[in-house]
Amino acid sequence: MPEEYPLISINDVEYTYLNGTIALKKINLNIYKGEMIGIMGSNGAGKTTLIRTLNGLIRPSKGNVYINGENIDSKSIATLSERIGIIFQNPMHQLFSNTVEEEIKFSLKSFELSKEELQSRINHILKEFNLERYRERSPLNLSGGEKKKLAIASIICRDPDILIFDEPTLGQDAKEIEFFIDLIKKEKNNGKTIIIITHNIEFSIENLSRIILMADGKIIADGPTEKVLTKEFLVEKTSLILPQVSQFSLALQEIGIQFPQDINSKMEMTNFLIKFLKNITTKIREETN
Ligand SMILES: Nc1ncnc2c1ncn2[C@@H]1O[C@H](COP(=O)(O)OP(=O)(O)OP(=O)(O)O)[C@@H](O)[C@H]1O
Ligand SMILES: [Mg+2]
Repeated sequence: MPEEYPLISINDVEYTYLNGTIALKKINLNIYKGEMIGIMGSNGAGKTTLIRTLNGLIRPSKGNVYINGENIDSKSIATLSERIGIIFQNPMHQLFSNTVEEEIKFSLKSFELSKEELQSRINHILKEFNLERYRERSPLNLSGGEKKKLAIASIICRDPDILIFDEPTLGQDAKEIEFFIDLIKKEKNNGKTIIIITHNIEFSIENLSRIILMADGKIIADGPTEKVLTKEFLVEKTSLILPQVSQFSLALQEIGIQFPQDINSKMEMTNFLIKFLKNITTKIREETN
């Protein structure tokens, strides 16, 4: 159950880029401590712009952003970044040190840690992210997936209360996505609030309980994932592709087979189908006997 007061409150926020593009139109959104939510919507909907208002990278043209009840308009990016960690879509935009180890060290530089504490934090995080063997390597010479891991590690090591990921599963293989899912679950269990921008509908359905759907600078839906993402018209509006499970369920309904509402994953769908086929074959056997 959400607490009474939102951790993040976005009130009537608007944003127009210098070239005149209106990227955010009257955005109102409350996010509560401990939530793990998704922001979805087509290219150019305003998702990245919206999350950039949360740590001061972008200051709203109109409206206000409150974090823990405090208006963040006079807070610096540095102060906000201590509590809010954003992991951007392209990891190379946030990696600039000569070695993997230095990258983490740099990220921790504003924390007043003793030499020993600093080294132990670095070792711990490199181990957690399986990056120890690349300690001396340049981030430029890591694979795409490893770069992404390092970018995440360089934010997580600061232990922010709010974690925001822009397209974390893009270009990741199944093993890396699994690592990421384990990581966010662990962070959520530690009380972190997590916001994930994603186009990956299956990932959302399996892992996120609330989805904010954006189109053309506005929020067009906000609610439980299964309610927001299975409404065909919403998906059409944002040109998101319906999840395979939903496509399949619609196809079954068309031929008169009722698909249970609570089926969301491919695994649940497979189990349902096996049971369904077993029932049919049993019935056919009974009738032919
Ligand atoms: N620096 C910029 N200057 C001018 N216009 C911009 C800038 N960055 C984004 N825009 C425009 O603002 C709108 C919202 O862009 P934004 O990057 O927030 O979309 P998005 O939902 O994150 O899209 P995507 O899914 O492609 O990442 C788009 O029309 C985009 O072209
Ligand atoms: Mg974006």
